[in-house]
Amino acid sequence: MATSKLSILAPSLAGPLLRMHFHDCFVRGCDGSVLLDSPTRQAEKDAIPNLTLRGFQIIDKVKAALEKECPGVVSCADTLAIIARDVTYEVMGPFWEVETGRRDGKVSIANEALINLPPPFANISALKTTFALKGLSVKDLVVLSGI
Ligand code: HEM
Repeated sequence: MATSKLSILAPSLAGPLLRMHFHDCFVRGCDGSVLLDSPTRQAEKDAIPNLTLRGFQIIDKVKAALEKECPGVVSCADTLAIIARDVTYEVMGPFWEVETGRRDGKVSIANEALINLPPPFANISALKTTFALKGLSVKDLVVLSGI
């Protein structure tokens, strides 16, 4: 499935897919670790802030199509990063270059998601600190929160 069709098939998933990328990048970098399953439900996706993530099946479908065309070339991490960019652009959001070549993470720990993702009750000081820890400015915080 070409990513250009995604926002047509699932327009309500553009925001959630960008959110998934954000939740992935804040924990161990943009390594796709949010996509990993744990048989004992202790992976990042099992942490409370990630229980409401949506769009995993879209990532799986695009990755399956990529594997069919060019097996073993595009990582899950790159797949998520590119999908998030493409769906955002398709719904009239900004465009940004995505450098490829990310290696997939093999470690995914629920508690790390809890520690690294900003909680819903965080005040502006806490949000600024959380974003600064990831190298993001106050402007980044404002712009990303407004998307
Ligand atoms: C600044 C810190 C942020 C906090 C504290 C925060 C917190 C939250 C919370 C509590 C929800 C509701 C989840 C639920 O349904 O229970 C939510 C939803 C959402 N957030 Fe954030 N968020 C932040 C930043 C971001 C950023 C940077 C993005 C993307 C650029 C984003 C995209 C979204 C989207 C699209 C939803 C709706 C998800 C859906 O409908 O499935 N958020 N966020």
